[in-house]
Amino acid sequence: MGVKILGTGVCFPETVVTNGDFTRIVETSDEWIVKRTGIHTRRMTGQPTYVLAEEAAKNAVADAKLSPEDIDLILCTTVTSDFITPSLACVIQGRIGAKNAIAYDINCACAAFVYTMDLAYMYLEHGYKNILLISAECLSKITDFEDRGTCVLFGDGAGACVVSRGEGGFASALGCDGTGANTLFARRHRNDIPFVDVADPQEIDHFPDAKDNTIYMDGREVYKFAVGAMATGVRDACEKFGITPGELDWVIPHQANIRIVQTAAKELGLSMDRFICNIAAYGNTSSACIPIALDEAIKDGRIKRGQKVCIVGFGAGLVYGGAVFEY
Ligand code: ACO
Repeated sequence: MGVKILGTGVCFPETVVTNGDFTRIVETSDEWIVKRTGIHTRRMTGQPTYVLAEEAAKNAVADAKLSPEDIDLILCTTVTSDFITPSLACVIQGRIGAKNAIAYDINCACAAFVYTMDLAYMYLEHGYKNILLISAECLSKITDFEDRGTCVLFGDGAGACVVSRGEGGFASALGCDGTGANTLFARRHRNDIPFVDVADPQEIDHFPDAKDNTIYMDGREVYKFAVGAMATGVRDACEKFGITPGELDWVIPHQANIRIVQTAAKELGLSMDRFICNIAAYGNTSSACIPIALDEAIKDGRIKRGQKVCIVGFGAGLVYGGAVFEY
């Protein structure tokens, strides 16, 4: 059994933020950002995340030539949900009228689309028919715009796809190293409780000092993890699928830094032509990066039916994962 992609969709905010725009708020330059990351522009919105998620979801369902009632499961990934509860998936289920679907979110940061693809495969094995995967992120909501080391990296966007049972096979290799949890995190703001003293969590967990609600990242540590994780994710997923990385038609990596992708490609002995990258235009949109790049490469004809595709991501947790399927 495999996972067949029936349709894909995306949604981006209209506002394009250039590297030059950042030079007005932090000490940086277009040259530094391009050379160190490969990013030229990113999109940002002041709208709720569910606005992007809903549009991407509707586009994917229409592209699959289905109606929302045909969907039996919605899995959403986001680190910037508009509500603590309910889940983004439930909000979207209601907004698009997918009344026959159960719906929930998973929290797996930038690797989350790979994890939902893996979950979708298991649900398909259990008899689910049409599964809608949505990754929607408005990282601008949790970006510290005073921290030049992180604020230039992130963007907003959403990608979605509908998957069903296929015949092309599927394999995944997922991993986690929670000892790195303190290298990349965003702490939730604490509520005042009238009956007890609210503890300072930093004294308990010894995570680095960071503002509530915004991303803290030890860039160098995450970079080291990312390079190894990306190569391992591709290699292990290929091995489980029964092929070598050289037999892949395409790799769609998490778009965090073009240098991470180049280093992983070298380690895998693959040409960069095999990697689908659009970080220059959109920056790091966390879990949305992979479905956005997937949609782009399917729609412009690069990815063709029958080709073998590996998606590979890494992110806060620290987590990583690779998955191979036939398009
Ligand atoms: N403009 C100019 N200078 C900068 C900027 C900037 N925007 N940001 C940092 N610098 C400076 C630093 O202060 C440092 O200066 P110093 O030498 O005087 O101290 C110098 O540039 C070099 O800093 P490094 O952190 O060593 O730069 P590096 O080449 O490692 O690039 C980066 C930083 C781009 C963050 C890189 O480490 C990286 O990509 N890390 C991985 C990030 C990642 O993959 N995140 C994924 C998960 S994100 C998520 O899950 C939402």
